[in-house]
Amino acid sequence: MISRNEKIEPPSDDKRWRIVQATMQRNGFTRDGLIETLHTVQQSFGFLDDDSLRYVAASLNAPLSQVYGVSTFYHLFSLKPAGRNTCVVCMGTACYIKGAPSLLEQIENEYGLSRGETTEDGHLSLMTARCLGSCGLAPVAVINGHIAGKLNAEEALQRLQALQEVENVQQA
Ligand code: FES
Repeated sequence: MISRNEKIEPPSDDKRWRIVQATMQRNGFTRDGLIETLHTVQQSFGFLDDDSLRYVAASLNAPLSQVYGVSTFYHLFSLKPAGRNTCVVCMGTACYIKGAPSLLEQIENEYGLSRGETTEDGHLSLMTARCLGSCGLAPVAVINGHIAGKLNAEEALQRLQALQEVENVQQA
């Protein structure tokens, strides 16, 4: 059976994408195969990155926010780089217009890191993505697998602070 999803081109010519495609094909290019597919990407490449997540989302016709949510929620997946907590700020057009750059900047300033980096203590990885597919909720971030919409910097910092407090309690 030919699926329209098979026409989506992988991010590169790397042969390992054939293994990923085979996994998706085995699951009929449905979202039911999302976790298995992400697992295959990780096994094949060692980590998940924005390009691979976008490719899987497009191939399985799944919202990118769901794919980011799953990949940041389950600890068996490691996005590059991987802190104990993850914050993915959407920098797509809708989020950009609604203030994502300032949101990102304030998180960077608060934690002393730039996008794509992890704090030295491994507490937080900060990443960015192109459109997460929830533009109606712009600006959007995915924090530890949970989507947070209509976010302002103050709320984002509060949510991140709450993660720190949870860790403090766990370590006490
Ligand atoms: S641009 Fe951010 S969710 Fe679409």
